[in-house]
Amino acid sequence: MSRIAYVNGQYIPHNEACVHIEDRGYQFSDGIYEVCEVRDGKIIDVKGHLDRLERSAKELSMKQGLSGHALVFVMKEIQQRNKVKNGMIYIQVTRGVAPRNHPFPSDDTPPAVVLTAKSTSRADSDKNAEKGVAVITVPDNRWERVDIKTVSLLPNVMAKQKAKENGAYEAWFVDGENNVTEGSSTNAWIVTKDNVLVTRDAKRGILKGITREGVLKTANNHQIKIEERRFTVKEAQEAKEAFITAATTVVMPVVSIDNKQVGDGKPGEISRRLRQHFHDYAE
Ligand code: PDD
Repeated sequence: MSRIAYVNGQYIPHNEACVHIEDRGYQFSDGIYEVCEVRDGKIIDVKGHLDRLERSAKELSMKQGLSGHALVFVMKEIQQRNKVKNGMIYIQVTRGVAPRNHPFPSDDTPPAVVLTAKSTSRADSDKNAEKGVAVITVPDNRWERVDIKTVSLLPNVMAKQKAKENGAYEAWFVDGENNVTEGSSTNAWIVTKDNVLVTRDAKRGILKGITREGVLKTANNHQIKIEERRFTVKEAQEAKEAFITAATTVVMPVVSIDNKQVGDGKPGEISRRLRQHFHDYAE
């Protein structure tokens, strides 16, 4: 089946879809994005993702082009046209096309909006989750505004590549005090020996994950104690459990950090429960 992309108001065969060479996303990474999970034909946590997209646009003084009902309509359309039952929807908005010049282009420059949808294998994801995955750590060398979901992802790309080259699934960024901030495309979590769920507070240094919010809600509903605070690499390595979250992974158990086994080296009980019940509370 041929895939279809949405590009600035048109549905175009995926292999013919393109943007201009002077798109500011291409030249300056002057753009924002969202990734939503599709599960059993339903788009998960739409409101959370669209609210965050709006916030990202606002923080960068960027026009969004499509928003609210119109954006939801295109999301559903792109999902259906690509027959995605399980997978993801990608939304990208850039400051548009203009002659290369660092300051913002003139006010009448329309933003460039692209949406794509793709199917992914739930069985493959579940297989990974049954075994658990490895993570490595890397220094957090990103800019301060990682709370904005921008397409400016070079440090994240470098980190993920390093993880791949080391046979790991994810790289955790570590700040100057040896605290874990987050993964290159996921949030980071541990469970202490006293069964307390710990993840870094979202005030600074991380993206406030939409899946993170859903997991906090799930944990609350399952009477799991939560602490939103910093934790070091050592605390994580000595924890009972660890896992990562994102729209693309849901809850993915972590069984080693920098080659040091976490817990008994198998996905932990609380991680498994949260993965199993996450969708009971997601919107
Ligand atoms: N990444 N932290 C970072 C740096 C991320 O890029 C992501 C998501 C998350 C988790 O956010 P959420 O739960 O809202 O998906 C945390 C997406 C999936 C990506 O870049 O592909």
